[in-house]
Amino acid sequence: MTFRTALCDLLGIDCPIVQSGMGAIAGPELVAEVCRAGGLGVLAGLNVPPDDLRAMIRRVRELTDRPFGVNLWLHRALRPPLDPGEISDEVLGGAQGMLNRFRRNLGIPTTMARPGRAPDLVEATIRVVLDERPPVFSAALGWLEPGLAEEYRRRGIKTMAMVSTVEDARTAAAGGADVVVAQGGEAGGHRSIDGKPASPDATSVGLMALLPQVVDAVRVPVVAAGGIADGRGLVAALALGASGVLLGTRFVATRESMAPELYKKRLLESESGDTTVTDTLSGLWARALANRFTREYSASDAPVLPPLVQRAAANDVFVAALKQGDPDYYPMMAGQSVGLIRDLPGAGEVVKAVIREARAVLDALPRRVRQA
Ligand SMILES: Cc1cc2nc3c(=O)[nH]c(=O)nc-3n(C[C@H](O)[C@H](O)[C@H](O)COP(=O)(O)O)c2cc1C
Repeated sequence: MTFRTALCDLLGIDCPIVQSGMGAIAGPELVAEVCRAGGLGVLAGLNVPPDDLRAMIRRVRELTDRPFGVNLWLHRALRPPLDPGEISDEVLGGAQGMLNRFRRNLGIPTTMARPGRAPDLVEATIRVVLDERPPVFSAALGWLEPGLAEEYRRRGIKTMAMVSTVEDARTAAAGGADVVVAQGGEAGGHRSIDGKPASPDATSVGLMALLPQVVDAVRVPVVAAGGIADGRGLVAALALGASGVLLGTRFVATRESMAPELYKKRLLESESGDTTVTDTLSGLWARALANRFTREYSASDAPVLPPLVQRAAANDVFVAALKQGDPDYYPMMAGQSVGLIRDLPGAGEVVKAVIREARAVLDALPRRVRQA
């Protein structure tokens, strides 16, 4: 199915729909399905060890010969991972005390232990991407150092940077990004910013206001992300100056996504107002479905551990919740677009439906404007 924009020419795809490389959600099957339908599928590289990432890239190549991307988080808290040994006993005790309430409710052992340091994966996975040369590299929560961006370019890999502020859009474009993804505050998942602002406000500007500002600020194609789940969103984004759209939450609720059933089920039942921006799930600001975990943690005065150490400390709670099929203690990243999502199609069907709807909207649009 074709519906071409400048983004399609740049990336060699047929329609300007990018599937987000969502951590633990976007594996080779989802990616290949999106690519086969003419969009850009993006493989999730977050927390994937280098050899596994290489195998996943090769698997995509077995499944499709269409262009695809690989996504990595470049956040400073991962390069190298923060050392939990530096957290004070008081802060650690406060957080574990809160998590112990959840552990008791789930019937799993309580603990006051310090989480271990996460494995240092980012530099090695950057090298895997350089070696394997997927057509596109997509970066989140940070951008490449100048030398690395240049190396990607030399190897013929197009680069995409996701940003949530105009200033970061300028920095990424000046730093060699071929495409800038403007992430509006509606977006599901983590705010795409390096570091952690004291409040999520500065990185939560709505897409309607952010997108035209980013379009004005950079000369490269801009992709719109946040709150888009159908053809109306695509046309609106094009009207605001974007060359394409990136969808996350819509693709979580597809047959090929690796999200567990309890999460997909909750997505289909949820309204836009059921999401919240919280740092309790990972230590970084992210939009997710509110549940007992996010509500009770946020309402307490318990401290939140530093970026991603919080995620590591809570991992046993999340694993137990999944085993017990309990969505109240499981992290379910989702954007405000969740209220538009009511079915569980194949990922290729999503791409085709968005294009079909966009064409219908474009056809109907002139008739909706009263001529003088
Ligand atoms: C479950 C989930 C996981 C995500 N993980 C990532 C990720 O690993 N890397 C990334 O670049 N963006 C990630 N995102 C954010 C998306 O790239 C994008 O900004 C967002 O999904 C757009 O808003 P939408 O969810 O309303 O479509 C994730 C989003 C969701 C919903």
